[in-house]
Amino acid sequence: MPESPARSRLDPASHLRRRASDFAPLPDRERLDLLAERARHAVAAREEERRRLAAELHDVAGTNLAAIKLNLSALARAIPGAATQEALWMADTQALLTETIASIREICSALRPTVLDHATLLEALQTHCTRFSRRTGIEVELDLAQYDPPRPPEVELMLLRVTQEALWNCAKHADARRVRIAFEHVGGRGRFTIRDDGRGFDAHGSDDPDAMPGIGILNMQERALSAEALFLIESSPGNGTLITLDF
Ligand SMILES: Nc1ncnc2c1ncn2[C@@H]1O[C@H](COP(=O)(O)OP(=O)(O)O)[C@@H](O)[C@H]1O
Ligand SMILES: [Mg+2]
Repeated sequence: MPESPARSRLDPASHLRRRASDFAPLPDRERLDLLAERARHAVAAREEERRRLAAELHDVAGTNLAAIKLNLSALARAIPGAATQEALWMADTQALLTETIASIREICSALRPTVLDHATLLEALQTHCTRFSRRTGIEVELDLAQYDPPRPPEVELMLLRVTQEALWNCAKHADARRVRIAFEHVGGRGRFTIRDDGRGFDAHGSDDPDAMPGIGILNMQERALSAEALFLIESSPGNGTLITLDF
């Protein structure tokens, strides 16, 4: 039977299935294993790319900005009179630079896949959400008291990365005021949810069978598949967005 086109963003593996249509005759379990294996390779390649980016950003931008900061401090000392226009511009530039250096440091540590080597998932989520709230003004409530580690590393990295992308989407698209992130046990499985109170969108996509969801949503789907989790995104205009991961 021919594959039906991806029409809905609610179907976890729709785009992967389309690309993997040559696997169609295999039994379901075997096919799912192959798809998950494929997703794991894609996720690993992306993590490696993020690691490389973090290293370059740290080594090139981080080092140069630190040098610029030193030069500016020397220049600031050379400016006579603390209240002159030049001194005010200089102080403003130094403050901007300090902020930029701090953001780059944050971006580097969020990019690194080893973030979970040095912190538990709960600590990493807590840190990320606190910084996100500070930067965006969006309130994030974390309700993870029921979360029972340890879970496999690929599951924990998946939860962190999906949360990062979902929060990023809240800041970029949702115009949300609050986000609630929660974990609960449902029918012997773990359920992780991210809900925002923003403007929502049409999660079923358009009727155009060639229309694809954005890269961010595809990446979240692929990450979930790689960790053998079920991914669901529910949204409609005016009703916020809910992401559910069952694993
Ligand atoms: N939380 C959200 N609230 C409102 N719209 C969203 C949300 N998440 C995603 N969207 C919509 O779905 C589209 C696809 O999202 P995504 O795949 O992450 O791509 P990108 O963020 O690069 O646009 C977004 O452009 C936006 O229109
Ligand atoms: Mg996005």
